[in-house]
Amino acid sequence: MLYNTWFGDKLKEGIVVFKIVEKESLNPVVERITIEAPYVAAKCEPGQFVILRVDEDGERIPLTVSDWDREKGYVSVCFQPVGATTEALNHKKKGECIADFVGPLGKETETDNLKKVCVIGGGVGSAIALPICKKLHAKGVDVTAIVGFRSKDIVFYEDEFEANSKELIRTSDDGTWGEKGVVTAPLERMLEAGEKFDQVIAIGPLIMMKFVCLTTKKYDQPTVVSMNPIMIDGTGMCGCCRLTVGGETKFACVDGPDFDGHLIDFDEVMARATTYGEWEKKRHEETCNLYKKEA
Ligand code: NAD
Ligand code: FES
Repeated sequence: MLYNTWFGDKLKEGIVVFKIVEKESLNPVVERITIEAPYVAAKCEPGQFVILRVDEDGERIPLTVSDWDREKGYVSVCFQPVGATTEALNHKKKGECIADFVGPLGKETETDNLKKVCVIGGGVGSAIALPICKKLHAKGVDVTAIVGFRSKDIVFYEDEFEANSKELIRTSDDGTWGEKGVVTAPLERMLEAGEKFDQVIAIGPLIMMKFVCLTTKKYDQPTVVSMNPIMIDGTGMCGCCRLTVGGETKFACVDGPDFDGHLIDFDEVMARATTYGEWEKKRHEETCNLYKKEA
């Protein structure tokens, strides 16, 4: 309805709008929305991200693309509604529009000249690991996927990982899906047995990526991680997404988001990630109250 009125007028003025064409819950805590964004869909590749704003006065958040359909002009992103903006995004319904959806930004994940790769996805990060598996698998690369969730009831994309890897190793923290434990356990077991990879690619919570890197460093296995820090402009201008890589300051939005995991100062990144924790908590409470009042 909204699309046909205010946004319809904007369309007539030649302004691009970003309509939500699909919305689904992958599990009780992870949502997937698909946006009509033909210019992004035409060019995006695994590992790249978009910066979106839900409303005209909203904050910008970066989300890595998880799927796309170039013919239809659709792009999907997955997110956990944990902060004010992701909560607001989650309140949007199919058919409604969001204010901005800018991308593709950042560099794509490097997939050339690789023969044997281990792709590791942890929790919601698995949604971003999948398109990398798909691209590598389509190129004929020997892909071992290690996918970890806390529990069986929040697993998603199992069939898709199975279809796009030579081997899928499942882990869950509580032992209800695959082997009990975290993703680094099967990784270490394989490396200890003498397995070698041209590249290990890890996407998930910072703590997981840190421990994957500590594990692969012991066995001298090249490792790439996808960093997703707080961003504002996404074009290398504001410096908000800076991180230290090999002793040098890099900007995740233009130099990444993929980096050599063995060179990242993870402790600094993790400290910066909590900078706006209190503010987020306050905004989250305000947002929830607002929605309660409107309901
Ligand atoms: P989670 O806490 O459920 O962990 C997922 C898996 O990671 C676990 O099942 C386990 O196998 C592994 N893991 C966790 N701690 C580990 C450790 N210490 N050692 C080895 N493996 C470990 O993850 P979640 O709640 O789905 O993730 C949420 C976080 O992921 C958020 O902080 C979000 O910002 C981040 N995230 C990052 C990216 C990215 O691009 N890097 C993308 C999406 C989400
Ligand atoms: Fe501003 Fe990267 S988000 S420099």
